[in-house]
Amino acid sequence: MSKTAFITGAGGYIGSETAVTLANTGIKVAVCDINEAAISNTVKRIEEIGGIAKGYVFDVTDSKSVDETVRQIVTDFGSLDIMVHIAGGSARIAGGQYVPLVEQKDSVIDTVLKVNLYGAFWASRAAARVMIKQGSGGKIINFSSAVGLNGLKTCTDYAASKGGVMSFTKALAKELGPYKINVNSVAPGVVMRPEENGGIDRALKTNLLNEKCEASDIANLVEFLVSDKAKFITGQTYVIDGGRTLSMKGTD
Ligand SMILES: NC(=O)c1ccc[n+]([C@@H]2O[C@H](COP(=O)([O-])OP(=O)(O)OC[C@H]3O[C@@H](n4cnc5c(N)ncnc54)[C@H](O)[C@@H]3O)[C@@H](O)[C@H]2O)c1
Repeated sequence: MSKTAFITGAGGYIGSETAVTLANTGIKVAVCDINEAAISNTVKRIEEIGGIAKGYVFDVTDSKSVDETVRQIVTDFGSLDIMVHIAGGSARIAGGQYVPLVEQKDSVIDTVLKVNLYGAFWASRAAARVMIKQGSGGKIINFSSAVGLNGLKTCTDYAASKGGVMSFTKALAKELGPYKINVNSVAPGVVMRPEENGGIDRALKTNLLNEKCEASDIANLVEFLVSDKAKFITGQTYVIDGGRTLSMKGTD
């Protein structure tokens, strides 16, 4: 029977590509985002390739909104087998600036932690409750970042939230292992979004391969991690950054 995936941030650059990639393998996709227009775009992309998708406007920072959305997904699709929490970002998602912690506003820190880290809690908890009840296992993936591993100036909020996702992944994998629910995390390096004009130099310089990372590179990793081929992998964070995190300041 075909599986159902609940994807947060499925209207965004990486989220949309991931939703389309999973749909292309026959997975039914609940396209969830706070941005209604972006949801419609992803649903359209999936329908164009003959996939099955339905859009849900929700706010991943609000546990009630997440629980209600998951209830609706199960009603609409009959099951929930995969959860991928991709919604997230740094100060930009709070309309804030990249500034040192001593200058950062409460509201920016609050939003960044809530979307990236609290969102992982609410989406994983709601999905795990359904998966445990179904008794047929499942896959949970939360998005971290290379910044969560190595830190970045002016991004303390983002770094802490994404580092938190890595620790959360390990602890939750221990809780959910007995239910055959795999819990992993994906940590991209620099993935230039289409709206980031002129960023190509940065995209090429920030990896060892001198190549631009595409959303599809990340989506392909998720496709593998939610497949049966990855059934023995749990509690891990997969860094996908073209070797970015190997660099050491002042050395080759
Ligand atoms: N692009 C990169 O270089 C990069 C690098 C490392 C990690 N990541 C991570 O990958 C993920 C996707 O990044 P992206 O570049 O595709 O960003 P994006 O801005 O294109 O997508 C993020 C999506 O999250 C949605 N969203 C924001 N707040 C929400 C909320 N409260 N509730 C529901 N949805 C909400 C947005 O509407 C948007 O569609 C993020 O978690 C990001 O931190 C990105």
